Amino acid sequence: MQDTLHAMEMMENAKDRYRWDFYENVQGLGKHRYQALHDCVKDMRERPERYIPAMLPDLPFDDGQFDLVLSAHFLFMYGDRLSYEFHLRTIRELLRVTSDELRIFPLVDLTGTRYEHLDRLLAELQSEGLEIEEHIVPYEFLRNANSMLCIR
Ligand SMILES: C[S@@+](CC[C@H](N)C(=O)[O-])C[C@H]1O[C@@H](n2cnc3c(N)ncnc32)[C@H](O)[C@@H]1O
Repeated sequence: MQDTLHAMEMMENAKDRYRWDFYENVQGLGKHRYQALHDCVKDMRERPERYIPAMLPDLPFDDGQFDLVLSAHFLFMYGDRLSYEFHLRTIRELLRVTSDELRIFPLVDLTGTRYEHLDRLLAELQSEGLEIEEHIVPYEFLRNANSMLCIR
């Protein structure tokens, strides 16, 4: 709750970096965030077995345990404080537990700038035989944060 309040305060000063066609304004965003927080806490209380704590770059899952793995708003967004090696190790770990496809969104940092080491990282993964595609998606809140990486 405090984290959501803090984020809303910060948003007032950074709102020009965002597109407001979906949330309309900071108040509308706050409403969606509180609803998401409420729904998440409710589900965690009712079905705790669905949630497994883990800390990347390690995951407590078997090789190929999931057909599809989704990772949002973590990798690339904190590229200024998480190292290139952390990104590569984390993606390898996510791929280890994936049998079909890994999707990562978005490909930019908190200012909306494409992750500076992305091309090097993709080249490294492609050289290992992985198929990689970038797709533009219809959801764009942070300006320029509308690309998703699909790795198979
Ligand atoms: C901006 S939030 C994104 C949450 C969610 N995926 C979404 O799209 O709304 C980033 C999340 O990464 C989590 N996180 C930070 N370091 C992590 C690590 N080493 N391993 C796993 N999660 C981490 C934080 O606790 C936070 O919940």
